[in-house]
Amino acid sequence: MTLLAFETSCDETSAAVVQNGRVLSSVVSSQIKLHSEYGGVVPELAAREHLRNLMPVARSALAQAGVTAAELTAVAATRGPGLPSALMVGFKAAQMMAFVLHKPFAGIHHHEAHLYSPWITGNPVAADFDSFQPNVSLIVSGGHTILVRVNALLDHTVLGGTLDDAAGECFDKTGKLMGLPYPAGPEIDRLSEGGNPEAFDFPRPMIHEANDDFSFSGLKTSVRYFLRDHPETLDEPKRLRDLCASVQAAIVHVLATKTLKAARRAGVACVTASGGVTCNRALRRRLEADCRSSGLTLRLAQPNLCTDNAAMIGILAGLRLQHIASADMSQEVLPDWDLNEMGGCSAG
Ligand code: KG4
Ligand code: ZN
Repeated sequence: MTLLAFETSCDETSAAVVQNGRVLSSVVSSQIKLHSEYGGVVPELAAREHLRNLMPVARSALAQAGVTAAELTAVAATRGPGLPSALMVGFKAAQMMAFVLHKPFAGIHHHEAHLYSPWITGNPVAADFDSFQPNVSLIVSGGHTILVRVNALLDHTVLGGTLDDAAGECFDKTGKLMGLPYPAGPEIDRLSEGGNPEAFDFPRPMIHEANDDFSFSGLKTSVRYFLRDHPETLDEPKRLRDLCASVQAAIVHVLATKTLKAARRAGVACVTASGGVTCNRALRRRLEADCRSSGLTLRLAQPNLCTDNAAMIGILAGLRLQHIASADMSQEVLPDWDLNEMGGCSAG
């Protein structure tokens, strides 16, 4: 099976060619520069940029894979969740392409695709995945913070999620308060390396609660009050690094602690993580240390596959088309698609 997959749910225009569970090419055109001027993603601009970039990105993915459109056996795209106008561009283009080529089409759940990105290593995903199920997977980005028990291939249960802000949003919004450019997550990661994570004590919301939910809005508010009372912190480079390291430590502590607790409660021996925040070096180190000391196996998505990409969409589409049912072309975009609705449902 040779698939062309598209991902346009937010601010990355991406296309990938996936063949029998292996990624042959993965092209991502990021819109970060465009949106940084506005301090966040502007949906209408994102959709227009997807329109401009989609075909060049698709052509480049096919060329890098050495595959022609006529050689494709299926086409896939993110169906949801995401920004409706942005989703529509990739989804409709992919659906039309499948229609013209008379090939099956698969509309893919964005979060479900993240669950498989830690398994993209160059080997066929299904073979590698087999020895590590069940697992607990943390999906953590600018739009979502979710814990999922992956019971078996294409069978999962949502354990919990954020009640308010996502962890990436917390990085971005606290960074904005510090005057850092959007997205602030990578900048806080960079500045934290020279800072003292114990310099300031910020709250660790919901860390002791016996559930798998998160809340990050209180942490953001406490950074706002801290900066109101100590504005001089931003004028001293050393204090700014300490502030970044302390905020990062609070977010990482909550994410790692709750993920490990969820894994214990769910009775699994393997933990995985993906989504843009999984690029964070402190989070990667902390999960590695905690899993090692708890005897759990850890699979982190490679940094270039943590952020949104079409490779994970193609990998999941291949699995769905192979294991579940033939796809149908009558699907529509679902901007608020609940991951709980996915369990055991048919392709798309
Ligand atoms: O998965 P992603 O590209 O897009 C979605 O939000 O779906 O994730 C982007 C998020 C942003 O909030 C960004 O600040 C955060 O991931 N991020 C990081 C790092 N790299 C990206 N946060 C902390 N440390 C990083 N190194
Ligand atoms: Zn994502």
